Amino acid sequence: MMRTASLPYNLYLIGFMGCGKSSAASYFHEKYDMPVIEMDEEIVRKTGMSIQDIFRTRGEEAFRQMETALLRELGTVRNTVISCGGGAAMRAENVKLMREGGKIVLLTAKPETILERVRNDSSRPLLEHHKNVQDIAALMEKRRPAYEAAADFSVATDGKTEKEIVAEILRTAAGN
Ligand code: S3P
Repeated sequence: MMRTASLPYNLYLIGFMGCGKSSAASYFHEKYDMPVIEMDEEIVRKTGMSIQDIFRTRGEEAFRQMETALLRELGTVRNTVISCGGGAAMRAENVKLMREGGKIVLLTAKPETILERVRNDSSRPLLEHHKNVQDIAALMEKRRPAYEAAADFSVATDGKTEKEIVAEILRTAAGN
């Protein structure tokens, strides 16, 4: 049976690459019939370029500007789960836009879990040549303060199913 969730705001999923934002977002769509926007996919669609190509030919700064422009555009949507790129919450301007649009949910995972999830993936320029626990842990630590400051609440994903993660998000968002 299809459950539905209808929220008068958006849920912005933030967190490190491989923390499970996209999987949780898909589950929201499949099981709760909620609209989902994948920021990376949206940028790829708009530019007709892959994330790697954008980083390589236009540079990271240009990509970051595209993220901000997209979040601004999304200001009018509601009841939508927005799966944010892992770096999106690093900019105060982006966090402000997210806060205006809804609740910000930080998904976390241990570096070991992240490594397992990204090991065979080559679509993330920032992880090329850094697919080891030490480098992942170092970048994660660098980002942690910004992630935590941005989040309304956080959910640890290690060892949990998508069903459990999404149930926890909805339960916590309701009382938050
Ligand atoms: C990035 C995360 C990626 C993508 C880009 C940069 C980051 O998104 O936006 O490669 O800076 O953490 P995911 O978190 O969906 O992998």
